[in-house]
Order: sequence, then structure tokens, then C-alpha cells
Amino acid sequence: MSVMTMTYHVPVLTQQVVEGLQVKVGGRYIDCTVGEGGHSRAILEASSPGGQLLGIDLDPQALGTAEGNLHAFRDLITLTNDNFRNLKQIAFDQGFDPVDGILLDLGLSSLQLEGGNRGFSFRTEEPLDMRFDPRQEVTAWEVVNQYSREDLIQVISTYGEEYRADRIAREVLENRPIDTSLQLAQVVAKAARGPWGRTHPATRTFQAIRMEVNNELENIELVLAQAVSLLTLGGRLVVISYHSLEDRLIKNLFRQESREARSIRVMNKKVISPSRDEVRTNRRSRSARMRVAERI
Ligand SMILES: C[S@@+](CC[C@H](N)C(=O)[O-])C[C@H]1O[C@@H](n2cnc3c(N)ncnc32)[C@H](O)[C@@H]1O
Repeated sequence: MSVMTMTYHVPVLTQQVVEGLQVKVGGRYIDCTVGEGGHSRAILEASSPGGQLLGIDLDPQALGTAEGNLHAFRDLITLTNDNFRNLKQIAFDQGFDPVDGILLDLGLSSLQLEGGNRGFSFRTEEPLDMRFDPRQEVTAWEVVNQYSREDLIQVISTYGEEYRADRIAREVLENRPIDTSLQLAQVVAKAARGPWGRTHPATRTFQAIRMEVNNELENIELVLAQAVSLLTLGGRLVVISYHSLEDRLIKNLFRQESREARSIRVMNKKVISPSRDEVRTNRRSRSARMRVAERI
């Protein structure tokens, strides 16, 4: 059996997503990060009969998988290979304006991390790519091998919140060219020194480079106000993030929309996290943080 067929993505906080969106029979929803379609399926099941879903993903491979997984709902879904930063235009073009709920499940899927040979994983020898969108020109290779020392420090310390960014950048420069994810992980581990905790010392650096390659924070900043504007009154926006930097940004954007624009009500003061049972069965869920807002 190949790695591709063994790896699949288990959706996180699925029940909470359906409840957070208050999915109703016959409702219309947008999944901005359809991935392999796990959350989309749950939304389609809960909105059946008559529910409809627009699914967006930047990764054509993920969309292909979603198309297969959601075959039973083929008459009720529209799948689009695009960046959710263009959400308003996509929704308008596809006739999904307004909608009853919008979901963003940020980051990358298990298939991308473990089965894609795309450089997201620091455990196997893979080309340094890390693009969600294969049409994009800049890959992780350019960031690692062509950025100046100052720019590398900036990326690693800002997006990775990595206090050892200076040392890591120096080690990277001394070891260029670095062509694979495993090589990069070894260079970072050498720079990070010290004993390894439960997380690999390259975790934060990989996160930072991935965020830089895919403009992840900018995309989030651009999508949230568009999402709010597409919701019907009482419609719900659910966002799941996987690290504190992203979650802080979402919290602040929600605050702006609720206090300044007065366009949403924040439904949960504290983030919603997975139960111990969920973390036990799906380790990837351990860092998930979910926030819910309602259009007013
Ligand atoms: C955590 S996975 C989603 C998994 C999905 N909820 C499921 O149940 O299978 C995140 C997905 O978002 C996609 N993605 C990341 N940034 C994106 C963007 N700016 N626009 C569209 N899709 C994006 C990734 O390609 C990935 O497939």
C-alpha cells in the first residue's frame, strides 16, 4: 500500500463546527478550506435535504480528493480551486451570496503534511516546496536559499515566534544550498541545540516558512470582513486555527468587527478546544482553537 492511500485527514471538532454554524435543513454554506471534505460532508449531512455547499481550496490535489469523498452530494456542491482571500468574488460568481454559514479550518491537512512529498514534513526527505497552490512561483526553497539573513530572522521570529531565530538563520546561511525538508530540519536542530522536548526543534521554523510562502496571515486578514459581509442576519462564521499567532489575529479581527463595525456578535468568550478523547484519537487536533461569530 502506498503512503498516499494510508494517509487521510480526520476533521477536527466536527460536531462543534456543525453546532457553531447552527446548520439547518436546506441551508447554504461555504467551506473556505474544503481540504478532503470532512467538514463539508458533516455540513451537507446536517443540512440535508436541500442544503447546498460551496467548497474552496487552493490545492487542486485536495479538491480532487474532496470531489471523490463528496460524490454522494455531487448535485449539492460546487467546488472551486481558488484562494479564500477572493471569497466575495468567488461567492458572487457562484451564486452563493448571501449564505447561512461560513467555515475556515486553517493550516494544512494530514494528507499535505504526510502524504504529499511537498516539503511540509521535517521527518522525510522531500523537496523544499510548501506551496498550497502549485501555480504560485515562490516556494520554500527560495525563502530558505535566497532570503537575506535579516529577512530570515524576521520570518522565523515573527511567524514562528521562535526565540532562536538568529542562530537558526546563521546556521541556514552557512549550510546553503539546502534542498530538502530533512536537510533543513537537521540544520535547524543543530542550531537549536539543547535537549528535544515533545516537539521537534524545527516545528516553529517550518511553520514560519510555510506561513511566509503562502501569505497565510495576510489571507486571514483579507477574508474575515468579506466572510461577515456574505452572511445573512443570524448567519454564523466559524474559524479553527492551530497556533497562537493565528488565533490572536482572529480574536482581534472578531473584536474589530463586533466593537467597531458592530457587524457580528462573538459567541464564545473563550476558545473552543477539542475534548481529551478527541485529542487521544486524533493527535493533530491537540492545538485546535475554534471561534464562532454571528452576523447581526
Ligand atoms: C486543515 S485543512 C482543511 C481540512 C478540511 N476541513 C477537512 O475536513 O478535510 C486546510 C486546507 O486549507 C487549504 N488552504 C490553506 N490556505 C488557503 C487559502 N488561502 N485559500 C484556500 N484554501 C486554503 C489547504 O490547502 C488545506 O487543504
